[in-house]
Amino acid sequence: MNLRRFDALLTTGVYMGTGHGFGKTILFGEHFVVHGVPSIAAAIGKKTVAKVTKSPGTGYILHDNRLATPGYKKDKLDQQKDSIERVLKAAGVETSKTKLDITFEGDLVAASGVGASAASCVALARALSDEFKLGFSDEKVNSIAYEGEKVYHGTPSGIDNTASTYGGLIWFKKGTPTTMEKIKVKAPVEIVLGNTGLVTNTEKAVAGVAERKAKQPEKYAQIFTEAGALALKARKSLEVYDLKAVGKLMNENHKLLQSIEVSCKELDLLVDISMKNGAFGAKMTGGGLGGNIVALTPGKELQNKVANALESAGFETVRTVIGV
Ligand code: MEV
Repeated sequence: MNLRRFDALLTTGVYMGTGHGFGKTILFGEHFVVHGVPSIAAAIGKKTVAKVTKSPGTGYILHDNRLATPGYKKDKLDQQKDSIERVLKAAGVETSKTKLDITFEGDLVAASGVGASAASCVALARALSDEFKLGFSDEKVNSIAYEGEKVYHGTPSGIDNTASTYGGLIWFKKGTPTTMEKIKVKAPVEIVLGNTGLVTNTEKAVAGVAERKAKQPEKYAQIFTEAGALALKARKSLEVYDLKAVGKLMNENHKLLQSIEVSCKELDLLVDISMKNGAFGAKMTGGGLGGNIVALTPGKELQNKVANALESAGFETVRTVIGV
């Protein structure tokens, strides 16, 4: 018996499959990535943990004990159920023969933009593997989670589940084949995530971009080319640890996201507060139209300054690091 199962057994008295998925932030290229533009994402130091126990009967019972932005769980409930069904199917687990108790917990506060859906899909795939002794590799976990993500993103690029599965800082380009490479940085970097408190629908945001892109092909082609060039420069700047340059590129990336209409006044305000308080760069992160921003704030002092300023303005924050 592995240590996690032993630990779960000691706490609860029953065997329990467990698994985790990291939360994530996209540093460069959300939305563009859906259309094959390279992008950079990072797992954050917060994760969702899934626990699965089987018992006699059929179907499943969900216990969602994650802390969440008010309204998030209610808004996402239908998608969550659909997503769980897809993960179970992709994992080959049939609830017509076994009843499952599925619990989600962990220190990732469920919110828009932090990869909460991907983290729960990844965590569940791993917990099922543990409970049913399926021996899933990370690659298999990632592909199962991708199936679960389709419900939330419509046409997911796969960047969220990939960051959530493998952790670290990743270079990601959707294609045939999709490429994923780890980016190495010489030391972890502090960031702040700032939550607008607005729960958003990524599928709609992604569909909106596709519609506008189809209506204004030339304008969008130019923006998408710029987004790709930015990601490339950002990768080089990260690799040589030029964080000032990374910050500037994040600001430019935010402007591109504004021009494809996925930012909003609340996100722009949080970016503005972060920059006024010394962040090296700040941008919306994830699907946009609400959700979170990410501010690059190297060093504990700057991280606290930016987070405190956002909190004083009434917004919740997460202080964490990327590049671990
Ligand atoms: C959402 O976190 C990221 C998007 O680019 C969608 C996706 O890549 O699947 C908006």
